[in-house]
Amino acid sequence: MEKLTGHNKLRTAVFISGTGSNLKNLIKFSKIKKTPISINLVISNINNANGLRYADKFNITKKIFNFEQVKDTEKKVLILLKKKRINLICLAGFMKILSKNFINKFDGTIINIHPSLLPKYKGLNTHARVIENNDKFAGCTVHYVTEKLDSGKIIMQKKIKVTAKDNPTSLAKKVLQQEYKLYPAAIMKIFN
Ligand code: GAR
Repeated sequence: MEKLTGHNKLRTAVFISGTGSNLKNLIKFSKIKKTPISINLVISNINNANGLRYADKFNITKKIFNFEQVKDTEKKVLILLKKKRINLICLAGFMKILSKNFINKFDGTIINIHPSLLPKYKGLNTHARVIENNDKFAGCTVHYVTEKLDSGKIIMQKKIKVTAKDNPTSLAKKVLQQEYKLYPAAIMKIFN
């Protein structure tokens, strides 16, 4: 296969809402030699999201959209994505639901990382639900984004054991560590 160089790498936008540790990790991944992506845009729906500092640190264009007027906002986001020639969107802790119209209109691929072993525990509070249900395993999933929340085709998953000592906080930490390996691996799987 033809090698992806700085000029033909997938131009990627990362959407965040908070801490942005997956964003930081994806930026790191975008700097390694074999990576298929370059990160050219960070979008946040929260104006003081901690993760925005990584955009500053690595000189990546960042934009904040509050997504309150969803239709109008998505229209503006689509224009920006086109202008920046983005062909991959990575949702990384982005806590807004993108509309069917947005997903259909975006000319590229949208993927998401979710902190559960989908199809189990779509939506929020995944770790608390794992503990409540005494599940033996927890994990994370990278999947394609479709109009149905957390239901698009699964690209990759990582499973970890839940121990008797685990609580939602400890589990969230452990799963997050796995997310840092899984997201780059899933991108390599689909684009390499
Ligand atoms: C991650 O655990 C991610 O899987 C989850 O939010 C966290 C964001 O952490 N995403 C969702 O719950 C999406 N429904 P980060 O901001 O440090 O990357």
